[in-house]
Amino acid sequence: MSAKPLRLGLAGLGTVGLGVVKIVQQHADLIALRTGRAVQITAVSARDKTKNRDADLSAYAWETDPVALAKRDDIDVFVEVMGGHEGAAKLATEAAIASGKDVVTANKALLAHHGHGLALAAEAAGRVIRFEAAVAGGIPVIKALTEGLAGNQMRRVMGVMNGSCNYILTRMQNEGLSYAEVFDAANQLGYLEADPNLDVGGIDAGHKLSLLAAIAFGTKVSFDAVELEGIGAISIDDIRLAADMGYRIKLLGVAQMTGRGLEQRMTPCLVPADSPLGQLQGGTNMVVLEGDSVGQIVLRGPGAGMGPTASAVMADVLDIARGTRISTFGQPAASLATPVAAQSATAASYYMRMTLLDKPGALAKIATCLGEAGVSIDQMRQYGHEGDNATVLLVTHKATRADIDHAMSRFGGTGVLVGAPVALRIEEV
Ligand code: NAP
Ligand code: HSE
Repeated sequence: MSAKPLRLGLAGLGTVGLGVVKIVQQHADLIALRTGRAVQITAVSARDKTKNRDADLSAYAWETDPVALAKRDDIDVFVEVMGGHEGAAKLATEAAIASGKDVVTANKALLAHHGHGLALAAEAAGRVIRFEAAVAGGIPVIKALTEGLAGNQMRRVMGVMNGSCNYILTRMQNEGLSYAEVFDAANQLGYLEADPNLDVGGIDAGHKLSLLAAIAFGTKVSFDAVELEGIGAISIDDIRLAADMGYRIKLLGVAQMTGRGLEQRMTPCLVPADSPLGQLQGGTNMVVLEGDSVGQIVLRGPGAGMGPTASAVMADVLDIARGTRISTFGQPAASLATPVAAQSATAASYYMRMTLLDKPGALAKIATCLGEAGVSIDQMRQYGHEGDNATVLLVTHKATRADIDHAMSRFGGTGVLVGAPVALRIEEV
């Protein structure tokens, strides 16, 4: 083999980093055959050199400082699998680009916050940043958008992109457990991020959606414009009531370009129980891509874990080894438009659950608030009694989230509302 080896500097030796080590070591021959050159790790970095990592790292130089790793002359590609959107990950990625390295990263938070600036810097330096592993783990969704569907005008991108939330919601559904019970189990199993709010608050999935939206619609990454709502307020009652109506509750991301601008939301939604999204179980991810020529593509697979995530990192590494060079977001960063944010521009039916004082005229007061906000009621049911209270379920005709929020802001003034109401969009998937 005459081509020069591709030399990796690997920053991060945790779940993903060690998965990369494993693939590079176990599949060296396969990779060389597929790319026409050897791919080897030259140097690695992590915080603690003494930690037992259950891997043979003896052939690799060690750098405690990932910035020093990024600047080394004996690496061609900086593989960033440390995490965090500030500090070491950002500094080292910037240093890698400045010193002429291509970058492969699994870090959705970094790119959601700084992706545009990093892409501009990389392209000015003639380098590439690849991030297949950052969205939906092992599912090759970035490749699907930037390559397989490159000839399409994308219409909509949606999906379940946080395995931890789907795990929690499906266990609640299947076993009738409360949110708190399943949250604790997920935490004990190590499924949740160190800061669990990144998962259950919808932030991690929002990061991923903002990256897909940038590629799909040719816009600068605008994570701040993603409408975010986590799953913490979903009760077992919501799961049961939704199931009675033929729906499942999912933390669903949707991005679409509307007449009013780019709509991006990551919120709990009701989807039909018999749809592919409704059927999705456990920690699995699903991404649905809709293009003008192709129609709808559904990608399903493991969204996290050592093997799947390292598999995606290596796909990017192999592309670089082969000489495939694609702009970070599928077109030159300087050509990405600044999106106009359109929050929930698309109207939908909403599921609303609330507890009301069980007394004459209570429902009428709520109906009046909805009517005055321009929200029309499609179905209304009262479920049982608890002391002086009753649970009420409403399904609205199509309305915007702004109108729903306006109506709900007035519920408190009726004097009949107990606790906080829940409103979930019913998504057409
Ligand atoms: P992890 O297990 O916590 O590993 C992080 C690694 O980075 C550790 O080896 C740590 O060193 C090292 N590190 C952290 N800060 C450092 C610093 N300042 N200097 C040097 N090394 C530092 O994390 P992970 O699960 O592998 O995730 C890595 C990245 O992949 C994150 O961006 C994550 O969001 C993304 N990702 C993860 C998954 C997944 O399933 N885990 C899926 C998709 C994307 P020590 O070992 O010495 O502490
Ligand atoms: N915390 C993420 C999840 C890991 O649960 O999907 C993969 O990005």
